[in-house]
Amino acid sequence: MTDRIAKPFLKWAGGKTQLINHIEQALPKDISKNKFTYIEPFVGSGAVLFWMLNKFQNLQKAIINDINEDLINTYKIIAAKPKELISILEVLQSEFHALEGKDEAKKEYYYSKRELYNKRKEEPTGQAALFIFLNRTCFNGLYRVNRKNEFNVPIGSYKKPTICDKENILTVSKALQKVEILCGDFEETLKYADENTLFYFDPPYKPLSETSSFNSYSKDEFNDAEQIRLRDFCKKLDLLGHKWILSNSDVKGKDENDNFFDELYAAFHIQRVDARRIINAHPEKRGALKELLITNQVASQEYVRSI
Ligand SMILES: C[S@@+](CC[C@H](N)C(=O)[O-])C[C@H]1O[C@@H](n2cnc3c(N)ncnc32)[C@H](O)[C@@H]1O
Repeated sequence: MTDRIAKPFLKWAGGKTQLINHIEQALPKDISKNKFTYIEPFVGSGAVLFWMLNKFQNLQKAIINDINEDLINTYKIIAAKPKELISILEVLQSEFHALEGKDEAKKEYYYSKRELYNKRKEEPTGQAALFIFLNRTCFNGLYRVNRKNEFNVPIGSYKKPTICDKENILTVSKALQKVEILCGDFEETLKYADENTLFYFDPPYKPLSETSSFNSYSKDEFNDAEQIRLRDFCKKLDLLGHKWILSNSDVKGKDENDNFFDELYAAFHIQRVDARRIINAHPEKRGALKELLITNQVASQEYVRSI
């Protein structure tokens, strides 16, 4: 039986599956040569993490992090207690599927689970199961919380959605055995870097406009000051000799005079790449967009001069 490939167990706004080809081009040329450590401080659904784990056998250790406690609890439970989690998800799936065609009952079931989730009184495995249940049944797989950190996404319109992907949970659990799972601010990940480390940053994107401003993954917005703090962290990593790749939205796509990122990362290598957005409340806004891929591996002459 061929080894199954671990894939993201969540739908996540900003999921990077669409960008992986471009990220592969931006990787250090000698990445397959020596053992290396991979750090992803904004992991979300981990699309790039799972691709890296499947692609590079010389990836010795991976460190993932996210500020979303419920997300990280779910990673930890999948790593430590996959079978217990699967048995709860199987119950949630059969109960929810049994309500197919009974819309009012289905809604009632969904909102009762959302309320239970927001109470956060369940033990960690139960909370992780509710997290996956909501992700699989809510509108568009969106993760959004209000200022009280309450998940407030309405029910989606899926017919018998897969809630318990048993095979993938077991495969992800196996893949996570060489992954250190952290919860906190991205700057906390520096202490896990060693002499051959690659960082991949995929922070909440800078909103292209007021209406498309989705970066409320957590109760605190990731605003321009946070984007600048992240750039300063990248500069620090560069001076320490660590390699990094960063993705973000291309604000020039909306306003060609907006040089926010071009100025912020002027010392580094900026690429504009095609990408598709699939999670967007407005179907007409899904489709081709440019995104930024920034890295310190091809240092610009200007930066070499500034050292
Ligand atoms: C664009 S998403 C990452 C998507 C991910 N690359 C994927 O493939 O699904 C950004 C993530 O950053 C997390 N985040 C927001 N602020 C953070 C912070 N200060 N430190 C660490 N993580 C943060 C959010 O919870 C969210 O999961």
